[in-house]
Amino acid sequence: MELDQSRTPLFSAIKMIEAKGITPFDVPGHKRGKGLKELKEHLGEQVFEMDINAMVELDNIFNPSGVIKEAEELAADLYGAEKSFFLVNGTTSGLQTMIMTLCKTGKKIILPRNVHRSITAGLILSGAVPIYLKPEYNNQLGIAMGVTPENVEKTIKENPETEVLLLTNPTYYGVTSNIKKIIEIAHSHGLYVIVDQAHGSHFRFHKDLPLCALEAGADMIAMSLHKTGGSLTQSSLLMVNNKSIDADIVRTYLNLIQTTSPSHILLSSIDVARKQLALEGNKLLEQVLEVSRYAREKINNLESFYAFGPDLLGNAGVFAFDESKLGIYVKELGLTGYEVRDILYYEYNIQIEMADLYNILCIISLGDDYKSIDRLINALEDIKEKHCKAAYDQFFEKELIIPEVIVSPRDAFYSRKKVVNLEDSIGEISGESVMAYPPGIPIIAPGERITEEIIEYINLLKEQNSSMQGPVDPLLNQIRVLGF
Ligand SMILES: Cc1ncc(COP(=O)(O)O)c(C=O)c1O
Repeated sequence: MELDQSRTPLFSAIKMIEAKGITPFDVPGHKRGKGLKELKEHLGEQVFEMDINAMVELDNIFNPSGVIKEAEELAADLYGAEKSFFLVNGTTSGLQTMIMTLCKTGKKIILPRNVHRSITAGLILSGAVPIYLKPEYNNQLGIAMGVTPENVEKTIKENPETEVLLLTNPTYYGVTSNIKKIIEIAHSHGLYVIVDQAHGSHFRFHKDLPLCALEAGADMIAMSLHKTGGSLTQSSLLMVNNKSIDADIVRTYLNLIQTTSPSHILLSSIDVARKQLALEGNKLLEQVLEVSRYAREKINNLESFYAFGPDLLGNAGVFAFDESKLGIYVKELGLTGYEVRDILYYEYNIQIEMADLYNILCIISLGDDYKSIDRLINALEDIKEKHCKAAYDQFFEKELIIPEVIVSPRDAFYSRKKVVNLEDSIGEISGESVMAYPPGIPIIAPGERITEEIIEYINLLKEQNSSMQGPVDPLLNQIRVLGF
């Protein structure tokens, strides 16, 4: 780090403007909250004082040359990147910008099939053609792991004209692939490597956490600072770390999709969270790891639960593990992850991040302490006493389904479509994505062939009360397929 990380140029400029007491004849129209009294009473004055338009001292996000430029330079300096961009539309916009910058229409991109829906949207926006890697799969837990260097190398050799590889670091459950080795392989074949590090903005700040993709040599990465870095929801970072990628072109693509009215509350939260990570990140993450280890140990001492973690290291596709992701296998209880999620919420007032058929996922981060962890442990213990049933038969134990891509996501998205009953869609090409959210990984994406196995899986998730998203029909009785 070369710059003074104790500075917060953007946040300081906003505070300076607040102190001026300017009379606003510009937007936002609530005029410092006077026009929305109920919310102001609830949130307090300060939030409205900060919700201001881009004044001359506040720079502009489209072509920064003042305090936003400085704040972005500080973020790049902290993460060791050439260039950083502040995002107010989440990592979603960063991923889409990376894909659009490097993948022109019709060009191939290699990526794991279990990517987030925002990447599918990036494929639609860019017109890139996906070549999917099959991630490794843990049959006991029923979840996908990372990808192996061997699989990546084989796929690159089979598709020599590909120019871009996309990796996810880490998966939702905290697993990372051997990204350093994979990036070396990709670079040796002349590919750019872009990384979805939505769940890993904290990686750089503790030696016991997996490697940040920038340290592993990635060319571009996007990170949700709001997920694990402490900033406010929607605020994220995009980083470029390769001089041959023109940062002005990256900005041009970002400007296509980013709002013209960025919230200064969100932008300052990036500035302040970056400072906190720089000055105190290591200490704070030491505490996060300490309580995560405590939670894992306690939960593993309760029979019927298995809090998986670093014990998975060495399994196929598991190179490193982020211990702050507390995945708990609940199948031995005789309940599904969805049932445990609902019991925790409705009976114990505990909100977890995500559930699937066999597991629940709790995120431990900067705001957690022993008190919050003990509440979770006590609730799990109580659930075991009150709800434990005989372990159920394994109702779905199949590898991740990798559908056949028939047309590119973009061509499918823009094709004419007809609506058919879900049960009648077998053999058709999907015109839309279907996913359980979270995790938001499409089970079927536009352009892919729908099979009996896929319908079976969707029906199973519907029965389990999983929150399904994507299709125009919210009940998912019908689906749009290509044709007319
Ligand atoms: C793996 C992954 N990538 C990308 C995203 C999108 O991030 P954001 O919500 O910051 O737009 C998510 C969101 O949950 C995610 O889980």
